[in-house]
Amino acid sequence: MIPDISKIRKDFPILDQIVNGKPLIYFDNAATSQRPVQVVERVNEFSLRSNGNIHRATHSMANRTTEAFESGREVVRKYLNAAEAAEVIFTHGTTESINMVAFSFGEAFISEGDEVIVTEMEHHANIVPWQMMCERKGAILKVLPFSEEGELHIGLLDSLITGKTRILAVAHVSNTLGTINPLAEIIAKAHQKNVPVLIDGAQGAPHFRIDVQALDCDFYAFSGHKLYGPTGIGVLYGKRKWLDRMPPYLGGGEMIDRVTFAKTTYNELPYKFEAGTPHYVGAIGLAAAIEYLHNNDIQSLIQYEHDLLTEATYKLKQIEGLRIYGEAPLKTGVISFNIAGIHPFDLGTLLDQMGIAVRTGRLCADPVMDHFGVENMVRASFAFYNTSGEIEAFYRALIRLKGMF
Ligand code: ALA
Repeated sequence: MIPDISKIRKDFPILDQIVNGKPLIYFDNAATSQRPVQVVERVNEFSLRSNGNIHRATHSMANRTTEAFESGREVVRKYLNAAEAAEVIFTHGTTESINMVAFSFGEAFISEGDEVIVTEMEHHANIVPWQMMCERKGAILKVLPFSEEGELHIGLLDSLITGKTRILAVAHVSNTLGTINPLAEIIAKAHQKNVPVLIDGAQGAPHFRIDVQALDCDFYAFSGHKLYGPTGIGVLYGKRKWLDRMPPYLGGGEMIDRVTFAKTTYNELPYKFEAGTPHYVGAIGLAAAIEYLHNNDIQSLIQYEHDLLTEATYKLKQIEGLRIYGEAPLKTGVISFNIAGIHPFDLGTLLDQMGIAVRTGRLCADPVMDHFGVENMVRASFAFYNTSGEIEAFYRALIRLKGMF
């Protein structure tokens, strides 16, 4: 079924505005996507009528909030097809989720001389927490490289994974190259050698139906604000068999069972990892975003986004001097590029003057910049509310700017 995009766009009134005298074209969805009114209204209605701190009181306001928060957890559980809601931990976002695993898994399972594998295409949030943990523990960080097209050299995993490898962390989708990584193959290779796998799903969760049981991943992290939900909320899915054996990350609040000065015992999952007052309003908003996606035909939205990518790639390739970074056959709607002779920041600023929002810079992926020997890139990233007309306008804007330089 072809989705009715003009109807969908009515759910995103933010898109219908003039920026710098031109109709807004929002192509920075990999940085943050926009929220439909259904999410905004749910959050507002909640804040106006039901607010009470969760799990801490017997009064009706608190009970209502607790129920909404825990129903939100169940919505996420279903979205991920996790075996149980206790395996769904609310965090502040992907970055916190990965830091949580790097710290707690590191405390429980990593010793001096052990090895951790990441890939060359990771976002900094899936590099730095592991590096910090490796420095703390005296462990070694190893890197799986990618090819010029932007595909991981999966074959190298066989030799990269050794008897000392304790965990492998990989992006579902590269935020810079758009590559969709072959998770099933990576996870199978790692599991063959009893190595658990963490998936950075920040750019994956917004574009796919996720089934953590079918994938058999050990951890899956994602953020609400890239999934049409609020900022400040994210999720860490983890298999109980790991989470049960990992110590808490932060102390205080609902993560305790009993506190004495001699010793504190900890709460059960998922609360053991939810210290302090959780961002329950965000969790409720995230659940509303997931429900919004379910109320639309997700599969047709995914196909539509892919069609936009194909069209944009075809058009941009007509522009002389334009180089696309990342041309894997399996990609989501991300195109990072440069145009010879134009500084990416100039391009970004001039596009903005034409109402077109793209991201410019190092894209939180210094190793990818180093791989291609560039300082910066321009990135256009699409969502299902973007249109073919916007891609045409983008293409014409780039031609015009090229002519100016
Ligand atoms: N991680 C976000 C991006 O890739 C901010 O743009």
